[in-house]
Parts: sequence; structure tokens; C-alpha cells
Amino acid sequence: MALDDHAGLEDIEVLKSAICEINQTHLSFRGYSIQDLAANASFEEVVYLLWNDALPSKQELKDFTTQLRAEYSLPREIVEHINHVPREAHPMAVLRTLISSLGLYDEEAANRSIPAQQKKAIRLMAKIPLIVAAIERHRDAKAHVEANPELSIAENFLYCLSAKVPDKTTARLIETALILYAEHELNASTFAARVTAATEADTYSCIVSALSTLQGSLHGGANQRSIEMLLSIASPESVIEYITPRLAKKEIIMGFGHRVYKNGDPRVPILRTLCEALAKSEHEKKLFTTATCLEEEMLKRKNLHPNVDFYSGLAFYLLGLSADIFTCVFAMARSAGYLAHIAEQWERNKLIRPRAIYSGKKNLTFAPIEKR
Ligand SMILES: CC(C)(COP(=O)(O)OP(=O)(O)OC[C@H]1O[C@@H](n2cnc3c(N)ncnc32)[C@H](O)[C@@H]1OP(=O)(O)O)[C@@H](O)C(=O)NCCC(=O)NCCS
Repeated sequence: MALDDHAGLEDIEVLKSAICEINQTHLSFRGYSIQDLAANASFEEVVYLLWNDALPSKQELKDFTTQLRAEYSLPREIVEHINHVPREAHPMAVLRTLISSLGLYDEEAANRSIPAQQKKAIRLMAKIPLIVAAIERHRDAKAHVEANPELSIAENFLYCLSAKVPDKTTARLIETALILYAEHELNASTFAARVTAATEADTYSCIVSALSTLQGSLHGGANQRSIEMLLSIASPESVIEYITPRLAKKEIIMGFGHRVYKNGDPRVPILRTLCEALAKSEHEKKLFTTATCLEEEMLKRKNLHPNVDFYSGLAFYLLGLSADIFTCVFAMARSAGYLAHIAEQWERNKLIRPRAIYSGKKNLTFAPIEKR
């Protein structure tokens, strides 16, 4: 097998996992299709499913929700830390830093027992949305909002962002995006989390590895980059003028293409429909039409389909979120998947340590510095 055929580990299966199944047209979590979950489940149910390999009963969901809501608060030091970070710092850089800090205030950070790992997973799932909301409010010079334990994760995130309890429709739209983003097999950031987990590093370190990997524009950073691109295209009529020179120069059009899905990302139709319903004003409708024109042109010219980040970027924009926090919203959802994979890695752990084929110089003799 030629190494170049698998650059970027393309098509290489490196481990067995029972969490998420992806093929060219289908995506399911623990056996349930993403369409079914997006239409019927709450985000909390999906998190439970990912972590427990079964949907919760009524009582199990109640207990799980109670445990999550009991963790709806941030250590005072973390809130102070947020209030001191530079306002212009990118929210993903702040989130990565803050998750690292959060570990310092968790007495069980280094405790590798299963009950401690489970408590840390719950803590992280509950606190990451609070951190994201607090970062955004700090950027806008607004006071920190304490979480509301009556609300779901999606509702609470919106509440902590705006200090207003969201209406059910808006909360459900965000929740749908969280469900779609919750897990995606061995994407780059989840793989990074598993590589870190395999060294027996602590949970916080695994999540920091994952977030560091997620923020790049070829991965989670694409939702921000794709809305910025869409907003820079003045109208549907400008799509051809926008992409022609860029494709000629072999530039990447953000939000298109996928390592696994070559015939379309199954999350896209759900998000496209959601965007269409959200686009109300003339500007929003024009933006949606521009997006669909771009989709048609990219398919025609490059046979490339939009991916989840293209339409989630548009959906988050239409929901009024600032583009700079789009990747953080992806992160708070995907943390469910990271934590499922970290736990699965530890069930039968083996250090992940591949080999490289050496292609450098050989047999050189060291020369003293004055002779070089
Ligand atoms: C996601 C991505 C990294 C997958 O990359 P990959 O699996 O390595 O795919 P390749 O780079 O081999 O792509 C195959 C061809 O399509 C082109 N291509 C892929 N995505 C493209 C895009 N978004 N815009 C323009 N051309 C693209 C590549 O340049 C390559 O062309 P070539 O054969 O002429 O060299 C890539 O599609 C991309 O950069 N997309 C934009 C970023 C993005 O949206 N990321 C989020 C992913 S969910």
C-alpha cells in the first residue's frame, strides 16, 4: 500500500468503536439515525445515549438531568479569569485556555476511577456552555449571567448569553444543531482526544487537545469562515463572480467538501430546511438564496457538496449568534462525543503510537561548530 494513497490517514481504519456509524449516506449514533434523533430527541437524551449505549428511561433521564443541572455553575476564579482575558482574543483560544484552568479547580482532575470520570464528564458538559456564554458576554462588556437550573442545556446556553429565557422554538433550533454536532466518529479533534486519552492523561487534557484541534479552519473553524464568506458575497448573482477566480487559483471554498461524505453530508438537509424556515427578512432570504446558489455552482463545477459547517454557520447567524462563537457552539456539542470516545478508549486502552517511514538524510558525521 503506497503511503501517498493514504495521506492524512484517508480511508485508514485505526480502531473499533461502537459509538457512531458513518457511511457515504448515513450517520447514526449508537444505532439511531441522526434524522430520528434530530426530530425527536432532546440534547440531554443524545448525550446520555452516547455515554451509555442506550436511550434513558424517564427516571434515568430525570436523574441525569438533575446531575447536569447540579453542575450549572462556574468556579468564581473561572469567572474572574474570563473577565481578565483580552476582549479581542478569539473565543476558541479563550475556551481552550479556560478548560485547562477548569481542571485546576477540580479536585478529582487526576482521579481515574470510573465514578470520578463520569462526574467529570457531567461537569464538563454542564459547564462548557456556561463558559462559552460568559466569554461572549465579556467580549460585549456585559455582566456575567448565572445559570438557571430550571432550563435545559440549550435553553440555559441562550439564557446565559442574553439574560432572557428563550422561546421554545429558538431553543429547539439550537438544540437541533447541538444534536447534529454531538458526535462524528474519528474526526480530527475526536482522534486527538483519543490519542491524549490513550497516554492516560486526565480528562481535561483530552478535551484541551480536542479543542486545540477543532479550532482549525479545515475542521471546526469552518462554520465561522463559511458565514464570513457568505456575507462577503453580495447577492445570489455574485456567486459566479466570487467562486470563478478562487477555484481557478485552487483556493478552498469554506464549508464545502468532506473527508468521508463524497455524495453529501446527511446533516445538511436538516440544517438547510432549518435555515429556510429561519430566514425571514429580505436580507436573510437573500442570504439563504445565495447559499443555495453557491451549493449548486460548487456541485456543478467541482462536484463538491456543502458540509455541516456551511449550513450550521448560516443557521447560527440567523439565530443571532456572533460568528466568532460558532466554533465554540460546535465545541460544546461535540464535547459529548469526545467524552464518549475518551471513556471508550479507557475501556480497553492501548497507547496510540503509529510509525513514520524515515525519509531524511543518513550517516552524517557531526562537525564542530567552528568548522561548519
Ligand atoms: C474538508 C476537507 C479538509 C476535506 O479534505 P480532503 O478529504 O483532504 O479532500 P481533498 O483535499 O483531497 O479534496 C479533493 C479535491 O477537492 C478539492 N476541494 C476539496 N474541498 C474543497 C473546497 N472546499 N473548495 C475547493 N476545492 C476543494 C481539493 O482541492 C482537491 O482538488 P484536487 O483533486 O484538484 O487537488 C476539504 O474539503 C476542505 O478543506 N473543505 C473546506 C473546509 C471545511 O469546510 N471544513 C469542514 C469539514 S466538515
